[in-house]
Formats: sequence, structure tokens, C-alpha cells
Amino acid sequence: MPRGGPDASCLDRLLETDRPEYLDRADIDPAVKRSVVDALEWTGRVFGNHEACAQLVLDEVAEVPDPRILELGAGHGALSALILDAHPTATVTVTDIEPDSVAAMAAGELGSHPRAAVREMDATAIDAPDSHFALAVFALSFHHLPPPTAAAVLAEGTRVADKLLIIDLPRPPAPLHVLRLATMAPLAPFVPFVHDGLISSLRSYSPSALRALADHAGVDIVLRGGLLRPQVVVAVRR
Ligand SMILES: C[S@@+](CC[C@H](N)C(=O)[O-])C[C@H]1O[C@@H](n2cnc3c(N)ncnc32)[C@H](O)[C@@H]1O
Repeated sequence: MPRGGPDASCLDRLLETDRPEYLDRADIDPAVKRSVVDALEWTGRVFGNHEACAQLVLDEVAEVPDPRILELGAGHGALSALILDAHPTATVTVTDIEPDSVAAMAAGELGSHPRAAVREMDATAIDAPDSHFALAVFALSFHHLPPPTAAAVLAEGTRVADKLLIIDLPRPPAPLHVLRLATMAPLAPFVPFVHDGLISSLRSYSPSALRALADHAGVDIVLRGGLLRPQVVVAVRR
């Protein structure tokens, strides 16, 4: 299925790539990957993205006493840290597939927080029992996965948690997407963060693609946001 969904236009179908981001490659210098994760942490802090994501999480668990929350693809852990600060009784399992990121989070404040556990985990094969968490959250990471494994995250996230919250880049209509890509392309060969941002944009899923993935995974989703704001998906098992 195209990233633009089963009904994607011809132009939209051209605006995608199978090329992995630096973050997804085993052959890339860890320092380069670290620079991308650090840039994500910095931009999220400066532009308020981590706080906006934390508010979305808190809204979803507002009715749950002492919620158990799972963060998948946490990268730097800033989202989990904000959730723990804002919610006095939430416990958070903070995870990522990348061992270096997990080690860095474990060595920081999250590693010694009494309500946090830092673990290595693949979002497509989550090591937890059914319904163990009130909420699983996967922020700015879903586009990393091609359709078969993206569907696996929907199935796994809703297996281990009552709700799966996915927050990801919006996929603009194709003409706007060309403009977005054109602004990034000149810097992409020189700045790793922009390189990964350009590929992320090409790999972002449209709302119709997200609906098709949810159907394939057998989960119900509600979609909001998009275009100029992050796309927000709340998935529950059927
Ligand atoms: C663009 S970063 C997002 C980091 C952070 N969530 C944020 O919002 O800034 C994507 C993260 O997803 C992680 N990732 C990629 N594939 C994954 C998978 N299958 N399971 C868990 N994490 C994955 C990467 O290691 C990376 O840390």
C-alpha cells in the first residue's frame, strides 16, 4: 500500500521512499544517530512539541486512576519525563528499539525515577501481557515502519494497552508536500536531522493509509489533527 493510502494520486505515489533514516541504519556512526536524537529533543523542547504530546497522553488517561503508561520509540525520553512530572501517580515504562538510546535514557534521570522503568523494546513485538497498560504512546515514530510492521504496532499496542496513541507527522496533499520537501532538500546532504526529516516526510502516512492499516490490523481508530499539526490516532482493539 502506498504511504498516501490505497486511493493515493499518481504524484503522491511518487513522494515516498524505501530509503531508511540514519536512525534506522546499523551502518551509521552512533554519534550521527545521537545528533538526530538530540536535535529531536531540542526542537521538541523549544517548540513545545513534547509538552503538547504529554497533554495528549494526560487527556487520554484523565479518567484512569494510577495509570500504567508505555512509551514506545521514546528516543530521548523527554515525553515520559514530562508525563511523570505532570501526573503524580502514573507509572511509565520507557522503551526504544535502539540500545544506545535506551542506555542513554537509563543513565539519565529516568533511569533512577521511582515510577519509571527503562527497557529495550520493539514496538512490533511488545514484551508485556494483554491489557497490562492503560495507554501506549508512539510519538513521531510510526512512519519509520513500512506497512506490514506498522500494522503489527497497531495490533500489539492495542493488545498490551487499552488505548494506543500514535502521534506522527501529517502527510500534506501532494502539491504542498512537494513544497515541504523542496525546503528541506538543500540541507539534507549536510545536516543529519534534516536528512532524516526529509525521509520522514516521504514516509509519513495519510489518513486513508492509517485507516487501511487499522482495518488490516483489526483495530478501531479515531483520527484528528493533520495538515499543519501532528496527526493523532487513538486506536482500540475491536
Ligand atoms: C524520530 S524518533 C522519535 C523519538 C521521540 N519519540 C520523539 O518524539 O522525539 C523515532 C524513534 O523510534 C524508534 N524506533 C524505530 N523503530 C522502532 C520499533 N520497531 N520499535 C520501537 N522503537 C522504534 C527509533 O529508535 C527512534 O528512537
